[in-house]
Amino acid sequence: MRTTALHLWGPALFALGSSALKNGLALKPQLGWNTWNSFACDLNETVILDTAERIVSLGFKDLGYEYVILDDCWSAGRNESGYLVYDEAKFPNGISHVADKVHDMGLKIGIYSSAGTMTCGHYEGSLRHEEKDAALWASWGIDYLKYDNCYNEGEEGTPKLSFDRYNAMGKALNKTGRPILYAICNWGVDGPWNFAPTIANSWRTSGDLSNVWDRDDVNCPCTETDGLDCKLPGYHCSIMNVLNMAAYYPSKAFEGAWNDLDMLQVGNGGLTDDESIAHFSLWAAVKSPLLMTNVMTKIDAKTLSILQNPAVLAVSQDPLGSVAIRRWRYYVDDTDEFGKGEIQMYTGPLSGGDQLVVLLNAGSKPREMNATLVDIFWADGPDGTASEIQKSWDIYDLWANRMSDDDAWAIINGTSSQGASMNGPTGYNLSAMGGFEKVYSETPTSSSKMLMGSKVGSVNPSGTVKAHVRPHGVPC
Ligand code: GAL
Repeated sequence: MRTTALHLWGPALFALGSSALKNGLALKPQLGWNTWNSFACDLNETVILDTAERIVSLGFKDLGYEYVILDDCWSAGRNESGYLVYDEAKFPNGISHVADKVHDMGLKIGIYSSAGTMTCGHYEGSLRHEEKDAALWASWGIDYLKYDNCYNEGEEGTPKLSFDRYNAMGKALNKTGRPILYAICNWGVDGPWNFAPTIANSWRTSGDLSNVWDRDDVNCPCTETDGLDCKLPGYHCSIMNVLNMAAYYPSKAFEGAWNDLDMLQVGNGGLTDDESIAHFSLWAAVKSPLLMTNVMTKIDAKTLSILQNPAVLAVSQDPLGSVAIRRWRYYVDDTDEFGKGEIQMYTGPLSGGDQLVVLLNAGSKPREMNATLVDIFWADGPDGTASEIQKSWDIYDLWANRMSDDDAWAIINGTSSQGASMNGPTGYNLSAMGGFEKVYSETPTSSSKMLMGSKVGSVNPSGTVKAHVRPHGVPC
């Protein structure tokens, strides 16, 4: 008999139906790496192939990270026939050559364009060139498109205008016959959670995420109060700004159609270790795509041990595909420099009858935090009527078995006796276990240290889960 378990910290929401896009992709939130945050316009063949090689050799591929995505600035206009051309200085052997190499490593490759006349970096956009561009990318072997929103000629302002503009590319991608994951990046304008699930695999929900925990910035003017109808999503948005907007629409995501809170900032400086853990945990809990953006050739031990926590990746890839919801939020007196100290609890079901609980301390002091079973299972029966409340639960800390710095450095330096993809002291090798898809889709059991962390306590019927939580952290 399985032990029913509460996963402490790790979070989830309700998955309904199957992808309306029907390309069979992103049935779990996509995992991968993108050039933008670390390389901006300085991407090239070497960057892509070096990164792909590290994704394999460091064990990221074995854990499920799959897509290597070229963001803005890869192109150099259109040729006389109207087809996009790649920048020959950056890609001297062409992009199909890079795609072949990436495929040879067992990975997939993504590209970027904008549903406008120009990309945000002022390169050629794809508006009214959808079919030619999609056909070209398919001929190169592209597996993923990130499709931005710059210079859209004013074709937004109603969900229908945005839908039509993004649907044109979705149809063009489908017409190629090649399965190409379609990731819309319109920063939440016109409510893509309403119009995009039938035409795309994921949609950005807000402005560009910066590597800062909580900071007001004039370039990210929308707050959660106007975030649902944001006219200028912008950039330099903080983790808390993006998270607090995303708290409102977890029910819009389902298999093959995910809310995208933007790429990970883990390993890019700017965040403390606790902030990075909280960021990664929450993005996994709300089933955002997990796209790393750190410089893989310069990765450090702490970055590796966060991005390679299999217990958190198993939450992201959980078979239920259920997004954690924010069950409560309280403001606290210990504020940060912007005066917004708060604590929150996210929870949701995981496969096999387990439940994810994330206690987030966004205040500036460490604190003891509590979550009652009544609150955790509120959605299953308000006022304490849910049958789950009458059960005892074991509590597992999903960060308990984080890889040690020594083990992580050994992997990075290529001196690990266990080799990459052996996850530190737990010593699991997902390839040897039949691959990450199989491992993550098997119901985690309390005997799996890799997927469950460690048992740290239990809670009696009608009881309360308690944890010590550091500032800007989740229990760990
Ligand atoms: C932004 C987008 C970023 C990045 C950038 C490239 O609009 O949100 O993620 O793609 O454009 O110019």
